Amino acid sequence: MARWIAAAQVADVPAGTCRELVVAERIVALFCVDGEFFALDGVCPHQGGPLGQGDLEGCVVTCPWHGWQFDVRTGQHQVHPNLVQPRLAVRIDGGTVYVDVGD
Ligand code: FES
Repeated sequence: MARWIAAAQVADVPAGTCRELVVAERIVALFCVDGEFFALDGVCPHQGGPLGQGDLEGCVVTCPWHGWQFDVRTGQHQVHPNLVQPRLAVRIDGGTVYVDVGD
């Protein structure tokens, strides 16, 4: 079941940037790619690095700890085909970014 939580203001996450957020006690990485927002589980599956503090180039984020890379639109790891970082649905309403943290 969806549980939409206000996570950020659109104006605070310019295109080409990302943020690490705590949303309903969950660490979320929020990305803005060409004005479109995407959210991934913010904990890197390698050793727990902060994906929301990574380097975003186009639609690919690079984890700041050891360089694992993920497509922020899909969560797909850029090398390992079977490794997909969990995504969270995002919607925009009135200048606010909402993230679905689920049950
Ligand atoms: S913790 Fe992210 S690449 Fe190692």
